[in-house]
Amino acid sequence: MNTTVDQADFFKTLEEKSDNGALRGDYSRCDANYVVQQDWNAYTPEQHDLWRRLYQRQARLMPGRACDVFIESLAKMDAADGIPRFDQTTEALRKATGWELVAVPGLVPELTFFEHLANRRFPVTVWLREPHEFDYIVEPDVFHDFFGHVPLLFNPTFADYMQQYGKGGLKALKLDGLTHLARLYWYTVEFGLIQTEQGLRAYGAGILSSGGEVEHCLTDPAPRRIPFDVERVMRTLYKIDSYQETYFVIRDFQQLFDATAPDFSPLYEKLGSQPDLAADTLLPGETNIAPNRRQDA
Ligand code: PHE
Ligand code: FE
Repeated sequence: MNTTVDQADFFKTLEEKSDNGALRGDYSRCDANYVVQQDWNAYTPEQHDLWRRLYQRQARLMPGRACDVFIESLAKMDAADGIPRFDQTTEALRKATGWELVAVPGLVPELTFFEHLANRRFPVTVWLREPHEFDYIVEPDVFHDFFGHVPLLFNPTFADYMQQYGKGGLKALKLDGLTHLARLYWYTVEFGLIQTEQGLRAYGAGILSSGGEVEHCLTDPAPRRIPFDVERVMRTLYKIDSYQETYFVIRDFQQLFDATAPDFSPLYEKLGSQPDLAADTLLPGETNIAPNRRQDA
């Protein structure tokens, strides 16, 4: 890998952020876009077995909790039997929405991440968590990235939203809007809920790849569930080490796409001089949507 100033910065920031002073992945082989080969043959039988156990536990929780497009796409992805080959999924994804998967060693710099999304490439981490991390990992691994994020890329509207997000990220870098834009990613792509005729469902990858939050986010009375509003989302801080205290609820993916289409420049300008809202805020007059009834495991 060619180390540029941007990349050096990236590693320095991550060292400061992470507990053990280093990132998990092997960054020694990636190209300038942080892309690596998946090297599928290097996964061990134990790793495929761990994947199967993660998959089975999680897939069982999806009915009545994940939105329909997630469940339908997941079923078509044929990923139950072991760590999938990214190039096979890419073939199906290209036909469906023109997206492709690229393998990466782990977290990548913001600029790189946005460039991938803006070109309809989704970066998927190659390494799998260890057995003792079954329920919780600090950095996203292949299970989170693949199981959580890839199914919705088969939906044309959501796929377009992701590309627009990438373009918006490149723009936000220049406008000093990243802090606010990142909250939009967090509260939609990672932790979004959607209203359906059958009740609330999850579409966020952080929820759908988590063993516990997928029930909590829908039925626990504690967190707030607020109708989606771009400005409200961008003002709201979030939790990275516990379940969310607030979820934002969309009506459908078209609403998400349309609400985020306008130019964000004036919004960044405005929010730059406003205080943030705590993650557990409910403003006067705001709707708090009732949870679903609890579903037994
Ligand atoms: N409309 C946003 C802008 O002008 C771009 C964007 C679209 C960001 C969709 C996120 C999601 O900056
Ligand atoms: Fe994620």
